[in-house]
Amino acid sequence: MHRILCISGPNLQLLGTREPAIYGKETLAQIHERLATRASELGVTLEARQTNHEGTIVDLIGGAFGTYDGLLVNAGAYTHTSIAIHDAIKAANVPCVEVHLSNPDAREGFRRRSRIAPACFSRVAGFGGDSYLLALDGLARHLTQGSP
Ligand code: DQA
Repeated sequence: MHRILCISGPNLQLLGTREPAIYGKETLAQIHERLATRASELGVTLEARQTNHEGTIVDLIGGAFGTYDGLLVNAGAYTHTSIAIHDAIKAANVPCVEVHLSNPDAREGFRRRSRIAPACFSRVAGFGGDSYLLALDGLARHLTQGSP
């Protein structure tokens, strides 16, 4: 059974009330519930965490080698700044999908650069909470069949 860790970064605990026109009305707890349901359908185990702290994200990813087979990472604003998270994903050497509720490329210019993208094998963005579910499906497929 493949083991997947889903990490959500800063301000994502506010989903539901945070800029709903951009991020939707679904809470992170509701997204986590949907992920858990989908994970059992797919026959994978999934742990979901949220933190506002860059170092905690680095710690979680750093502990992934040997413990998890795949990562879903929505690093929030750290996506655009954090070489440390990029390096952690590379160091963990665990397949990772970059996840975003919104489509950062269609927003402000400063969101167009992802620091973590070069460390990820795929990215799902712009589908609201469904981005997490689509990313989970893609990651599970990648783990069982390889990609593309
Ligand atoms: C986000 C996009 C980021 O640019 C932003 O800073 C976030 C959320 C998303 O899921 O759409 O916090 O990662």
